Amino acid sequence: MKISVVGTGYVGLVTGVALSHIGHHVTCIDIDETKVEKMRQGISPIYEPGLEELMKENIQAGRLFFTTSHQEGFKDVDVIYIAVGTPEKEDGSANLEYIEQAVRDIAANITKDVIVVTKSTVPVGTNHYIKELLISLVPKHINVEVVSNPEFLREGSSVYDTFHGDRIVIGADNEEAAKVIEEINKPFGIPIFKTDIKSAEMIKYASNAFLATKISFINEIANICEKVGADVESVALGMGMDKRIGSMFLRAGIGYGGSCFPKDTKALTKIAANIDHNFELLKAVIKVNNHQQRILIDKAKERFGSLAGKKIALLGLSFKPNTDDMREAASIVVSKELIAEGAEVVAYDPIAIENAKKVLPQEVVYTESIEDALENADMAFILTEWAQIKELDLNIYVQKMKQPIVFDGRNCYSLSEVQKYPIEYHSIGRKPIYNYQFQTV
Ligand code: UDX
Repeated sequence: MKISVVGTGYVGLVTGVALSHIGHHVTCIDIDETKVEKMRQGISPIYEPGLEELMKENIQAGRLFFTTSHQEGFKDVDVIYIAVGTPEKEDGSANLEYIEQAVRDIAANITKDVIVVTKSTVPVGTNHYIKELLISLVPKHINVEVVSNPEFLREGSSVYDTFHGDRIVIGADNEEAAKVIEEINKPFGIPIFKTDIKSAEMIKYASNAFLATKISFINEIANICEKVGADVESVALGMGMDKRIGSMFLRAGIGYGGSCFPKDTKALTKIAANIDHNFELLKAVIKVNNHQQRILIDKAKERFGSLAGKKIALLGLSFKPNTDDMREAASIVVSKELIAEGAEVVAYDPIAIENAKKVLPQEVVYTESIEDALENADMAFILTEWAQIKELDLNIYVQKMKQPIVFDGRNCYSLSEVQKYPIEYHSIGRKPIYNYQFQTV
């Protein structure tokens, strides 16, 4: 199959590379000349484990190409994947500007019948709109079909997920088109679920909303656990053993961030509002998450009163480990509020510092190691559960900090381990440990 992919963000690039790896001829199109030049050399514009190796292998095998030219990219292709961004508009709905531009570019350049596959997350009804727009723009002798094929990739493991996903959803209203996309995907060896276009569009939103609900649910349970003296880790384990509930996505913490959950949950409440449905449950999920992102600040204020003049070390800045993505990371909310409170903020992240500098307040000081961030700090906030942080020798807190007081937003350490050290330790949904006697002067 000759395929082209429009947009080389996380979804587009990983999809293009993976499709070439299973044997298809793939051209990825992006308007950014410098980015395309780098990708031609096998250099990925995003940090994604395993991606560059696969890029290089498939470029060398003559299956993977990159271009800035729509004419070249859409010439003689059988299938076109749209994987451009659908960022959030101010009112919370999805911005379809890039999708529309992609459709116009496709219409202006295709030379034969094509199937357009939408990978981008789009509101229900968008694929039908895309089809109408295409039909109105392409010459009459060219036939276009549209298929919805949402992605479920997690950042940081998107290469793994592409080859080991739980399902591939193909939404089509045309049997022939569905079959072609099914054939393309067969080599992945992943169960394929075929449905109509609108249901496929909804599966994506409903899946993300459900996962976000699980997270907000366990975070609420965690907050109650703290008050009643239960342990959320045990509660999650005990709940998760019930197969109907499942053990995954029950990690309590400082809430969800990233490029999908915050955006897609808001977009789904908007989709519902458009048909006069008040999606109260999902609105509560979002509200709980907004509160949860700042929970460490509440804990620290409850403990210390004012945070003005305190030196606070932030450990981990990206929205989750193994990515340098700062989109909707809790560290943004936390650092802004700490600076506003008059605290001195020193931050460390293994790889996200460059991106963090673009979105955190300019007062934040960055360090090259955890040790440097902790030096003489009044307290530490753990915001991302990087392996480096989880594996840290707890003596470092004792040795480096002015007073070893740790607020762990990701439950990185077991309470029995922390008990061995003279540390004051506050985590999420678990009993605090007071092994260090803080002297107020
Ligand atoms: C998510 C979905 O998993 C993926 O299917 C979809 O296509 C895109 O959105 P991603 O945003 O990469 O993927 O990250 P994910 O690993 O799902 O984590 C999202 C956020 O939830 C992170 O901030 C993470 O810290 C948080 N999270 C996740 C929890 O707080 N607790 C959990 O139990 C799981």
